[in-house]
Amino acid sequence: MLNVAKEAALEAGKFLKYNLGKVKHIERKLGQETNLVTEIDKQSEAMIIRKIKQHYPSHDILAEEGGGQKNQSEFRWIIDPLDGTTNYTHGLPIFCVSIGVEMNGTIVAGAIYDPSADEMFTAEKGGGAFLNGKRIHVSTCDSLITSLLVTGFPYNVKENPHHAVEHFVNLLMEGQGVRRLGSAALDLAYVAAGRLDGFWEVSLNPWDKAAGVLIVQEAGGVVTDFKNTPASSYEPRTLASNGKIHQQMLAVLGKAL
Ligand code: IPD
Ligand code: CA
Ligand code: CA
Repeated sequence: MLNVAKEAALEAGKFLKYNLGKVKHIERKLGQETNLVTEIDKQSEAMIIRKIKQHYPSHDILAEEGGGQKNQSEFRWIIDPLDGTTNYTHGLPIFCVSIGVEMNGTIVAGAIYDPSADEMFTAEKGGGAFLNGKRIHVSTCDSLITSLLVTGFPYNVKENPHHAVEHFVNLLMEGQGVRRLGSAALDLAYVAAGRLDGFWEVSLNPWDKAAGVLIVQEAGGVVTDFKNTPASSYEPRTLASNGKIHQQMLAVLGKAL
């Protein structure tokens, strides 16, 4: 299944790269001015689903743009066909494809592919995490003031849901720096690779995080909600770190809760 996830992510990722700067139709989702979907998101999703169905026609599929299927299978593929749509519509080459595979509710395989950098992040449960086939590990940074953090904001951030703005200000004041890349799956992959030390976001969907959570865990990191409960793909509140700064990040998040 990991091989199929990798093949599908690679194929869709190449399609995204080829079409960067060529978006024709931008729609606004759920009546929200800033929540975009393009024909490229939908075509990427269709390509991925086609590949999965060729190999595993009876598996369940949960896909962001609604192309999934429910078969009561013990396996469920969780797909973000284009993570970083806002960047993509501006021609900013920070985006990826994310595919996670769940077995009886536990993520057992994940692939995140960034076609701009040609980087494929992968993990299988119990088998470690990899970047282009080479083992990766989280960083060893153990204090917030020397940690480079990353976050993202939900599309309704202007309503300041779940104290999103206060968390941002509080962590900005305590960390070395805070980045906002615009792709939650890449944020998680970069924590796994030790490029970033910690990531939080108040409201993720399962397709944003399913693959990334496993990749961080398999790279030696920790993923929880904001109260230190171990992560599930279906929990919106997400805190991922190298483990060493996890308690410090929880304490800062706790200030606004
Ligand atoms: C979004 C990105 C962004 C995050 C948002 C997500 P999309 O996904 O991952 O970084 O802050 O919460 O919805 O819409 O580009 O697939
Ligand atoms: Ca996403
Ligand atoms: Ca998406």
